[in-house]
Amino acid sequence: MAPATWAPFAGLSRPTWSLPLRWRPAPWAGCWTRGPSRGSCCSGWPAAPCSALLPPYRCCRACWRRGQPRAKTKLLIPTTTKAQLTAMHEPIHIDSRWAQRLRRGEQPDAAEVREHLLAVHQRHAGFTEGVARGCRDAAGRNSYEWLAEVIDPARHRTILDLACGSGVLAEICLQRHGDAIELIGIDMSADELALARRRIPDPGCRLHQALAQSMECIPDAGVDLVLCHWALTLMDPIEPVLAEIRRILRPQGTLAAIIDGDIASSPSYAAVHDVIYSAAQHEYPSYANADLGDARVRAPESLAALIRQTFRDAEVRIEPGMVSLDGAPQTLAEEATGFFYASFVLSAHARARALAEVARVLSADAGSDGLGRFDMPIHRLVAQL
Ligand SMILES: C[S@@+](CC[C@H](N)C(=O)[O-])C[C@H]1O[C@@H](n2cnc3c(N)ncnc32)[C@H](O)[C@@H]1O
Repeated sequence: MAPATWAPFAGLSRPTWSLPLRWRPAPWAGCWTRGPSRGSCCSGWPAAPCSALLPPYRCCRACWRRGQPRAKTKLLIPTTTKAQLTAMHEPIHIDSRWAQRLRRGEQPDAAEVREHLLAVHQRHAGFTEGVARGCRDAAGRNSYEWLAEVIDPARHRTILDLACGSGVLAEICLQRHGDAIELIGIDMSADELALARRRIPDPGCRLHQALAQSMECIPDAGVDLVLCHWALTLMDPIEPVLAEIRRILRPQGTLAAIIDGDIASSPSYAAVHDVIYSAAQHEYPSYANADLGDARVRAPESLAALIRQTFRDAEVRIEPGMVSLDGAPQTLAEEATGFFYASFVLSAHARARALAEVARVLSADAGSDGLGRFDMPIHRLVAQL
């Protein structure tokens, strides 16, 4: 097939040829990366009207391809090669060694878990913010903002955003405290860090690619506050991570993190969780025994016990919170589903079925305006040395 030419953002014409059915983007593709602030995508670009491109897309073209935005000035991309088209129409499903092991009913090892996480964050860099930024609590804060409230500039000069991902939290910290703080970001994913670098140019924040289990780039007692938004739950083994955090924290330092909340406190979250996990379980018989991360980090009691093992005499507080997203059930289903790592291993067919089921579940409680609500329970951990 000859290279196709079309302008995806303005003057928007559709290709004159028709894609073979198996190349057509699935109905969810592109939507999950769409930024929560309506009308912009995950990197703050204007969203491409989906009908102008191919019907399902609502996100900017760069993001839904690989989460790698192009230079902001290049909104018009004149030509699309066959190779680019193939990449754009790749299924979002990840077939890592981890997933293959689970499909065979086997247990993956720690290296395979890490490799899988890296593959997810390579293909879907920025997906966490795609949902988390738009989920707000009763006071109007998202979970990044709630976590950033821990910062006390009088005590916290050097701050580490551990597993910083695409840099949303770091950006909020800088917007709030500017020159009063020195910010460091660490993540193991080069693809996430690339997004963070675009968002926060030097010298706002020093970004390092490293594992939380070995943060040699930070000296002993080099940090006043470690912030970690939605990533402690993925870190396995967790003990070396806590030991490293203890090593780099100064006396009277603080660790604060957003972690999973109590599923039972949100019927909508529990329902979505059940749909996605039963779909994953169906395709991967040992999925239930092989979730990502250390399960002790997900429950407040076991997490507090773990922290106290490493941070002796620390004052540990774990507060519950709830952040919510409103929207049309189909859109909400795409956003909520995209938040679960399990959704990235589902086959196209299983994912489409799960999405339809999630939309059905979320429409059951829709109001008279037709909008449904997805409530995400969270916890904020604060451990004060
Ligand atoms: C759910 S995302 C959260 C990203 C970011 N904190 C946010 O909330 O937008 C989890 C992040 O943790 C990173 N990560 C997971 N395990 C890690 C580890 N052991 N060391 C460093 N980064 C890790 C992933 O690369 C990913 O960017």
